[in-house]
Formats: sequence, C-alpha cells, structure tokens
Amino acid sequence: MIGAVLKSRATGVAPDIAGGYNLPPPHVISHHRLVLNRQRMAARPMSVIDEVKDRIDIVEVIGESVKLRKSGKNYSGFCPFHPNTRTPAFAVFPESGTWRCFGACNEGGDVFSFLMKKEGWDFSEALRILAERAGVELRPHGSAEQAVDEAHQRLRTLLEAVIPFYRHNLLQTPAGAPVLDYLLARNLSEQALEKFEIGYAPNSWDATSSYLMDKGYRQQELKDSGMVSERESGGVYDRFRHRIMIPIRDVRGRMAGFGARVVDPEDVPKFLNSPQTALFDKGRMLYGLDKARKAIRTADQAVIVEGYMDVIALHQAGFANVVSPMGTAISESQLRLLKRYSRRMVLALDADAAGSRATLRGLTVARETLERQPDPIFNARGLVRHEGRIDADIRVVTLPEGVDPDEVVAHDPAVWTVLIDGAQTVVNYVLEVLTADHDLDDPKAKSEIARQVLPLIEDVADPVERETYRQNLARRLKVDERALIAWRPRSPRRRPRRDISTEARVEGAVSQRVESPIERFSLGVLLYDPELLYRVDRNLQALSLGRLSPQDFTGTEHKVIFHAVREALAQEEEEPARHWRSCIETPLLALSDSLLAEVIDFDFTQPRVIEEIMANFLRLRKRKLELTLTHLRFQLQAVQEGESFEEEQEGDVWHHTREVQRIASEKDRLDRALAGHGGPNQTTLIAEGW
Ligand code: UTP
Ligand code: MN
Repeated sequence: MIGAVLKSRATGVAPDIAGGYNLPPPHVISHHRLVLNRQRMAARPMSVIDEVKDRIDIVEVIGESVKLRKSGKNYSGFCPFHPNTRTPAFAVFPESGTWRCFGACNEGGDVFSFLMKKEGWDFSEALRILAERAGVELRPHGSAEQAVDEAHQRLRTLLEAVIPFYRHNLLQTPAGAPVLDYLLARNLSEQALEKFEIGYAPNSWDATSSYLMDKGYRQQELKDSGMVSERESGGVYDRFRHRIMIPIRDVRGRMAGFGARVVDPEDVPKFLNSPQTALFDKGRMLYGLDKARKAIRTADQAVIVEGYMDVIALHQAGFANVVSPMGTAISESQLRLLKRYSRRMVLALDADAAGSRATLRGLTVARETLERQPDPIFNARGLVRHEGRIDADIRVVTLPEGVDPDEVVAHDPAVWTVLIDGAQTVVNYVLEVLTADHDLDDPKAKSEIARQVLPLIEDVADPVERETYRQNLARRLKVDERALIAWRPRSPRRRPRRDISTEARVEGAVSQRVESPIERFSLGVLLYDPELLYRVDRNLQALSLGRLSPQDFTGTEHKVIFHAVREALAQEEEEPARHWRSCIETPLLALSDSLLAEVIDFDFTQPRVIEEIMANFLRLRKRKLELTLTHLRFQLQAVQEGESFEEEQEGDVWHHTREVQRIASEKDRLDRALAGHGGPNQTTLIAEGW
C-alpha cells in the first residue's frame, strides 16, 4: 500500500528539492526495492505490543476505573483525569482500541497511554503489566539480552540479600547498638528505619563478602554488584565498612545499590555510594522515588532535597513526595523521570552557599569529600534550560541558615509546608539572591547583576514569562528596560525554541489499531535522520499546519519513539541519530530497530525523495484529523442525544461544533496540499526551498 502511495507522489508537493539537502550515504537505489521492502514489512510478524493490544479489551480495562455507558458502537463516561460531572466528556472507541477526553484534557490514546496517565507508569511498565494480564510472554528481543537480563536479576537478588544482613547488624549486634542510638537520636523512628531498610555495615574487610559467598554468590558477582573493591594483588575487600547503609531502589522498587554514611565523623568520604554498575546509575536515578511517586502524583508536586537523611525524615513526617539526588547535580534525565509523576518540582536547597549557588558559575565551595562531584545540585542556567526542554515548572527555595530539612520537620512540620509554598521560580530566586548581596545604587553592581541574570532570562522558553522577568529585572535594578535589551547577546547560539508543552505530552491522540505502514515509514525515516524533522515542521508550518507531534502517531509506542526523536534534536551532546537510542525505553529498542531496518534500503538520494517523505507526513496528519473528526462527531451526537440535555450543555455542543469546523478546515488545507494544486501554499513551499 505504501509503495503505491510513494509512487503516486512522484508529482508531489513540491519541485525537485533534493539539491542542497544533506543526504545520507547512498544505499540501494531503486523504487522497486522500496516497494519490496514495504511488502516485507506488511508480512512482519506481530510484535508483542500488537499482540497485547489485540488481546486486551480496552473497554474492560478502562471500565475498571471509569463507569462507561454504551452508546452505539462506542462508550462514554466521565473523564477520570479532570473534574467532569456534567456532560460525559470521555469516550472509548473499541474498534480502534482508543479513548479520548473531549473536555478539559482534550487528550486521548490507546490502552497503554490510559494506564500510563492513570498510574504514572512508563511505557515499559504498562507493557509489562498488560502483557501479564493478556498472557503474552515478554521475551527480551534476543538470547543475548535475555542472558544480560538474567545476570541483572541475579545482581538484584544479591543486593536484596545484603539488606537483612545489614539490618541484623544494626538491630541485633553490639557494634550496631550505638549506630542505632545515633539514628534514633536524630529523631528517626524505628518504622522509618524499617521502611527505608536502613542497616549497618560492620567494621570489617570481609564480613559482607563472606556472608554473600556463603550464600553462593561468586566473587565476580560481588564485583559486578559494587559490593566489593578489588585489591591490587587480586582478591577483593568489602567496599562498605562501618557505615550506615541506605538501600537505593530504582523507580520500580528494584534494588540498584547503596548509599553509605559514615558513623565516625572522621572518616571520609562522608557518603560513599555504590560505584556505577549495570544496575546503579546515580545520575539517572533519584533516591526515594519508588516510595514517593504515588504521593508526587497525588500532590502534583515533587520536592527535591539534597540528602538521603532528609528524604527519610520528611517521609516520616508525612511528606512523602520527596526525593533526592545522590551527590550529583540534578540531571535532565532525573527531571524527566520526575516529570512522569508531576511537572511541578521544587528544589529545597541547603542554605550553605546559597549566594554562590545562585551565580551562574555554580558552586565553588568544595565539600570535604573525595566522592562528591564539583557539580552543584543547583545550576541555575542548567535548570532553566531543562525546565524549558521538558516543560516542567521548577521552583527553588533555600532552607534557613544552618538547618537541614530533617531538622525543620523535627521542629515543626508546618514550617516545611510554608517553606515549600514560598518557593520561587529559578530566575526570581537568582535575582533575589544576587540583589540581596549587592548595593543596588552602585552602577557597577547593577551591571554585574544584569550580566548574570540576563543570559538566564534569555534561556526561559516561554516568551511571556521571559518578558515578565525582563521587566522585573529592570524594576529591581531601577533601569530602563530598553537598556537591558541592549544587553542581549548579539548572536544567541540558542537552538530554535521549541514548543515543548505540546510535544512533551506523549499521550494525546486518537489511535487506530490498524497497522499503519505510513506511520511506520514516517517514523523510520525520522529515526534514520532525525534532522529531517526540522524540514517536515517547516513545511507543515508553511501550510499553516501545526508542527509534527506525538499526536500524529497512533500507538503509544510510536508516540514514545517520536518523542525520543524530538529529545534527540533538543540536546547538543551527541549526534541525534545516535542519541535517540539513549532516550528510548529498552522494550521499544527492538521496535525502533525494526522501523529503522524497514527504511534502511530506501533510497534517500532519489530526486523526489523529500516530496515523497513529506507526502507521507501529510497523509499521517490527515488520517489523524479524520479520526478526530469521527470521534468528535460521535461525541457531539452523544451530547445532543444525552438523556438529560440541559441548557449548559449547549456550550459543549457549540464547542464541539466549532472544533469540528476547525478540524475540517485544517483537513481541507491538507487535501489541497496533497493534491499538489498550485496556489499560495505551493508558492510558500518553493520559497522555503522545498
Ligand atoms: P550532606 O553533607 O548535607 O549530608 O550531603 P546529609 O544528607 O544532610 O546528611 P547528615 O544530615 O549530615 O547525616 C547531602 C547529600 O550529598 C551527597 C549525599 O547524597 C548526601 O545525602 N553527598 C554528600 C555525597 O554523595 N558524598 C559526600 O561525601 C557528601
Ligand atoms: Mn543533614
């Protein structure tokens, strides 16, 4: 089918545009090859994901949490994601295996996205649970992966086995007694110590390793788990000795490693973590998230504190939405992880060196540690950029001088709430700290503050917010805003600003369970050459259509992969064509590879290749609009035929009608573009260099 599609586009959207296009190296140069390839694709064996979708009854799954009423072929109900009691704004379409809210959320998707949104799961988790429910066996995609998986599982079991050993040492040995006293004296309750599985590693070079060897673990496994270090002479010794042991679990609650605090204040470093292992990547995990994620979702706010001990104390005090990094600066991947549960995040920073933290140079005060990285947990500029990229709302608050969060709550839990409520945006926080330290009548001081804050403001993604900060700064410095504008860097090396708020939402489209070659092809092409997306977006915009978004794709798996392509383009560290791999959850790698394989012998050097590619993206968009239209019409009808048609519902009818009109006219524009008719749109395309 797609072969035909591609061929028929030979007279496509725009004239020859291959010139100037930075083409990948030639592979196989033939259209026929492409057609064959499509056929091979059609015969592709059913993936686990398809199989799960096929076997799971979306009405049944959603029906477990939403009361659904049958209405024709479809079902409607009240949306579980936003307050909705009047007109049922939520619909399930069994035929396409999709759901959609026509009300405040205006979102939709398949059974995966429903559960991801509802439970805060990531794709892998939703897949795992649904596969189990459907009785589909989730095999890692190859025996090599399977072996790795088993090895990881064994390491987890090993780490799991050390916990009772450390607990025993804390609770039942003379050496542990003073340590337990210390912890209790810090106001940690026995229940909290139990919940966080706090233990004690005895002051011995081999107690832990002997214990593990007795349990049948091999030396290599001890090394791989990070529990021992290697002697130069060969042989191993316990990494953790005479330390308070804090088990670190991943977001799913699986053991990953340990954090270990000194008992003897003279020992260094104060905190020693497991080394980087196959299971433990401290820059990508957050301590306490397995226990905090539910509360983060409920409170719609995540609080990030600096220390392990603070996380435990805050949970004990009833603030369960708290996590901490593990001695490293907060990374974007950590923020992304959090954002699955809430986009609202508050960084609660220790008071020390608040001033130097606020400066863009970052934290210069060295901690008394070998392990701690020079990176501060707080880097204003980094945060503002992350915030824009992942569409989060990040705020900052500094704790009172000399008190850690655990001391705040020990003293008065209400104070914690007040503190968190007072958190400020990153820019305002920096502005506050800087102006607090300076004489604002001194022109040199003003200039210095402007020099530090303006680049930060430039990085703010939202234009309205940006402008407000600029006005704010001008007011604080008592200078004219125009003077500040003159400060703006001449040639900002910023990447084009992206509207992340829409694309970051992975859910959001109606999908159709039918296998879509167009979709697979389009996604495959983007995986092959992510930069193509810029061209596609530009062309869509030239047609007054919105940029490509996850909503253009049907299945959640495709949306998630598309999202990774966007992410790959938003970063600067690595080749985008390489980078998307690290953004994608493991179960989706196999699918991505197969999408890639399907386009690999597509000839990117053909003269009309871009037209063909573009025509497919337009088709993708068109199909999405058609589906939305169908669904909207269903909803419109459902509202009008509702048992209790009340006056207020007229608003809904009006809203839906307008929406139908809007989408229909967008579809018209698309049809014209696809028909390749002349007219203003076509001219724009040519002018754009397509
Ligand atoms: P702190 O020194 O503030 O410790 O380091 P803390 O968590 O408040 O612990 P207490 O209250 O003194 O017992 C904050 C965090 O920085 C990381 C740890 O994650 C720690 O929880 N850190 C600190 C390290 O990774 N290594 C270090 O040597 C010190
Ligand atoms: Mn502390």
